[in-house]
Amino acid sequence: MAGYELIVWSDDLVTGVTEIDEQHRILVNSINEANTRLSNSQVNAEILEKITSDLLSYALYHFETEEELMQKYHYVEAQGEDSARHQKQHREFSATVVAVREGIKMGKLMSREDLLTFLNGWLINHILNTDKKLGAYIVAKRSSQ
Ligand SMILES: [Fe+2]
Repeated sequence: MAGYELIVWSDDLVTGVTEIDEQHRILVNSINEANTRLSNSQVNAEILEKITSDLLSYALYHFETEEELMQKYHYVEAQGEDSARHQKQHREFSATVVAVREGIKMGKLMSREDLLTFLNGWLINHILNTDKKLGAYIVAKRSSQ
């Protein structure tokens, strides 16, 4: 499967934390919408700016939700390394999208394939390897309360 095909939601992506899963579905939908939009029209600076701007705002809001949950359930104290790695991945994603946006402003357009390969790959990898760990931790905390 090419890295820039539409993401198909599956149970593998479920973290078990309702608010995180709802936001992940919204993220998947908006990446898929961007994918469809980019395949139906000529890639230009205006479309890329709009897509990356909307995506960055929602991603930042979503990272904040996860990081507030980390604080609330003392993930930082209990799983220091995982928590640090997790938050670092959030920062790196945001920094990459900001860099892509800087590039667009300077006339360096990213292709649909490259943008989608990055977005799809990052999100799926992050959910499977990082968010699911946080999810399992929060589910255990909630069930013991
Ligand atoms: Fe995350």
